[in-house]
Parts: sequence; structure tokens; C-alpha cells
Amino acid sequence: MPDRQLTSLTIRRPDDWHLHLRDGAMLQAVLPETARHFARAIIMPNLVPPVVTSAQAVTYRARIMDALPQGADFTPLMTLYLTETTDPEDVRAAHAAGIATAVKLYPAGATTNSASGVTDFEKVRGVLEVMAEIGMPLCVHGEVTDHDIDIFDREAMFIDRVLKPLRKKVPDLKIVMEHVTTQDAVDYVRDSNKNLAATITTHHLIINRNHILAGGIKPHFYCLPVAKREAHRVALVQAAISGDKRFFLGTDSAPHTDPAKLQACGCAGIFTAPTTMSCLAEVFDAAGRMRKIESFASLNGPEFYKLPANTSTITLTKGEPVQYPSHIQTADGPVTVFDPGFDLHWRVEE
Ligand code: NCD
Ligand code: ZN
Repeated sequence: MPDRQLTSLTIRRPDDWHLHLRDGAMLQAVLPETARHFARAIIMPNLVPPVVTSAQAVTYRARIMDALPQGADFTPLMTLYLTETTDPEDVRAAHAAGIATAVKLYPAGATTNSASGVTDFEKVRGVLEVMAEIGMPLCVHGEVTDHDIDIFDREAMFIDRVLKPLRKKVPDLKIVMEHVTTQDAVDYVRDSNKNLAATITTHHLIINRNHILAGGIKPHFYCLPVAKREAHRVALVQAAISGDKRFFLGTDSAPHTDPAKLQACGCAGIFTAPTTMSCLAEVFDAAGRMRKIESFASLNGPEFYKLPANTSTITLTKGEPVQYPSHIQTADGPVTVFDPGFDLHWRVEE
């Protein structure tokens, strides 16, 4: 049957290769939204203070497990936040003990809670060399932070100024260029022959910069890296639906309360966890490539991380528009759920 005629599709249970769960009351409120559909997720370490050491990753993981709803089958894959004082031997031990799956590189100041990130890449070379040796991936927030670089150019600039030199210096390091937003990044990943992959978020497959800025400013569409022009969004969709193993889902679901987003200097981050699978299905279906959703959401990520794909499955079915809440309530305040601006016809059967 051609993909366009599908009204039901069973796929291996998906994983989310880039997720913000936060802590405390927020963690409690948002974790069930991910655990409902996803088997595993790479957990971002940008808490305050950040998750830098293996000891911190152990306690954060325990808080996540405590917050899991009864009966949920979900495995958090922890990351360590790379700083200029990260101890290579702590990273080695965390990987060997199964405590940390990856290390996260934030250029200092690039995004929410990234003040302890890296400024001088020579200072982290020792850690990167150990990671290359043990096959531990580096997840990279790929934006330069220089104030004189236009925010729409920061990702493309990062490739030339940071990523290319870094990959020359440590060629055996496995790198995930996270939440790519540009044709430039898609091309760069496609042109590489090994050790490089990219995650693509739900929202970057759906919105471009007009959604944020035309007809009034829409803070709920503001995230980092900021959405680019339409041609870039189209390039991301092409990469996602292609089945190319180097591209996989990292939702970057990043909850902030409405008061934190709706202010003169609002936070970056879009909360997509509740409707991600329905949104993705809409994108893949519209492109006539529904069957490729499994490669993107369930197969390519595990392959890059050298983990088995999940054996359990989910079934997506197409029908009347799905009803979903505009907000979830947390003890810290309401969090707005991403609204793609069109009806969602695909639901996940539970
Ligand atoms: C993320 C957050 O809120 O932690 N925000 C975002 O816009 N994506 C940080 C990040 O991943 O850049
Ligand atoms: Zn993120």
C-alpha cells in the first residue's frame, strides 16, 4: 500500500535523543508526557547547577526514576555537562559504569543555563580524546556565541569555526550535531562519511521564522537555535523523511512556565513532548513518507549510539483531529504545549 493511503502504522517504540526534563515539580509534571510514548531519552544536563560529574548524574537519574509514573517503562540516558574542568577519568568511569551515555557541549552562553560551558576548546581536548577512545558520543549545541554574529548565522558559523577544526583534531570522536536548523548543517552532515550525525526537533520540521515574528511576536515559538527561513525548514524535512541513518529525532522538548516565556526577556524553549508523535506523523504523512517515521524516531538513533532498537511497538492511527490540552499544570505554573497551527489526525494508541 502506498504510504499516502495508510491509516494505521505500527513502529518500534521511539526514543528521544535530546530532551529537557528539568527537576523538582517540573520534572514531576513533564516526565509522564515523554514516558507515555518514548522508551528512552538522552537527558540534557543543563540544570542549575548543571550535571557535571558522574556523582551528580547518578543522583539526577535517581530523581527521574522516582518521578516516573507507576508501571512506566522508560530509561533515561544521562549526559554530563562538559566544562573546562571536567575530569577525563570521571567521564571514562561514568561511561564504563553505564552512568552516562554521552557528554554535552554547550559553548559558554549559547542557551538556557549554559554559563559553565566551554570557551577554550584546548582545555577540553583531554576529555574529548578519552571519549574518542571509548566510543562515547559528544552531543553538541552547535552555535557560536559571539555577540557580533547574527543570531540567524550562528549555526552555520559554528560549523566552520568550531566543528570542522574539532573534527580534524579528534577525528575518532563521535559527534551529534543537535537540533540542526539549517540547510548548511544538513549538507555538512550528509557530506561527512563517519562519526557525525544530527538530531532534528519536532518544531523545526514545522515552523520557520515567520511563525515567530510575522503578525505579532509568538514567544511560544521561540527556541534556540532559533527557527530559520522556510528553505531551511524544507531541508530539515527532506533530511528527516529520507531515512538517511545520520538524522534522527531529538525533540528538544524544553518546558518553561508561561510567566517565564511571556515577559520582556522570555526564555527559549518549546514544550513538544505531549504531541510530538502526532506532529511528526502529520509531517511524514504530508510528505507521503509515513513509513520512514520509524527510521527517524526509532531506528537511526539507536544505531548511532550502538544500542539495540526497542522491541516493543506503538501504533499510530489516523482519524478525527486529536484533542490535546493547550497547557499542562505544574506546581511552578502552567506550561504551554506546542501548537503546530494545524489539526493533528494521528494518535498514538496506548
Ligand atoms: C533549551 C532549554 O530551555 O533548556 N532551550 C531551547 O530553546 N532549546 C536549551 C537548549 O537546548 O538550547
Ligand atoms: Zn535542548
